[in-house]
Amino acid sequence: MTDFPEEGFRFFATLPRQAPGSDARTRSVLRKLPPLPAHPTVADVGCGSGASTMVLAEDLKVPVRAFDISPILLDVLTERAAARGLTDLVRPEVADMAALPVAPGSLDLLWAEGSAFILGLEEAFRRWLPLMASGGVLVLSDAVWLTNSPPPEAVALWQEYPTMGTSADAIARAEAAGWRVLFTEVLEPEAWDAYLGSIRAALAQPHALAPDFAAALETEAAVWDTARKTYGYLFLALQAP
Ligand SMILES: C[S@@+](CC[C@H](N)C(=O)[O-])C[C@H]1O[C@@H](n2cnc3c(N)ncnc32)[C@H](O)[C@@H]1O
Repeated sequence: MTDFPEEGFRFFATLPRQAPGSDARTRSVLRKLPPLPAHPTVADVGCGSGASTMVLAEDLKVPVRAFDISPILLDVLTERAAARGLTDLVRPEVADMAALPVAPGSLDLLWAEGSAFILGLEEAFRRWLPLMASGGVLVLSDAVWLTNSPPPEAVALWQEYPTMGTSADAIARAEAAGWRVLFTEVLEPEAWDAYLGSIRAALAQPHALAPDFAAALETEAAVWDTARKTYGYLFLALQAP
């Protein structure tokens, strides 16, 4: 996302979240995890404007380091945290997920909704494992094929993510990288409807996006309308040894 334009960040900053997801799903996945230690170190990586960060802070009631490459999105996260009375718990930091400023072996919970694709799953699994405390948990959501024969428009849409596989592929990659799979689940399609609906609503308002960028977002929403059964987001809850 290094070539992602500033007006793109500004556009996405107006949305409730920057990827398909839901507070209810964040909360339900969180509640299925093994108990955290008394004073856990928690990070939300590629947090965007912080939809999941807020849920983590509210539910866990511990500080959450909120890492993102975009100061624009982190400014919005800061405002939203203040509006929810979470300023004391939400700690925004500009950082590259490829080189997170955390001590090796220190993270009890690393959360990454809709952001691991930036590194690619294998790279994310490889880079983040050494950062985890023993028994620390990684939760991420990432796009997977839900069919072995996706339609051409879906294949074209996802060509920018060439390593995208099935749920079984994602699980196999996690295990090969040394993670233990606690559980996986597929995000409800309604969360995609809400996310793409928010994009369509924002595109209907005056915006500063280049026409080809706006058209690509329209295409993303249109492909979902026709191919929604063929891809989705897989949540993986993984434990470090
Ligand atoms: C698809 S959005 C998901 C945001 C958020 N997790 C959510 O679900 O709403 C991906 C996020 O990763 C951030 N990002 C892109 N490249 C990054 C990098 N190298 N390091 C950290 N964050 C990055 C983007 O700014 C964006 O906020």
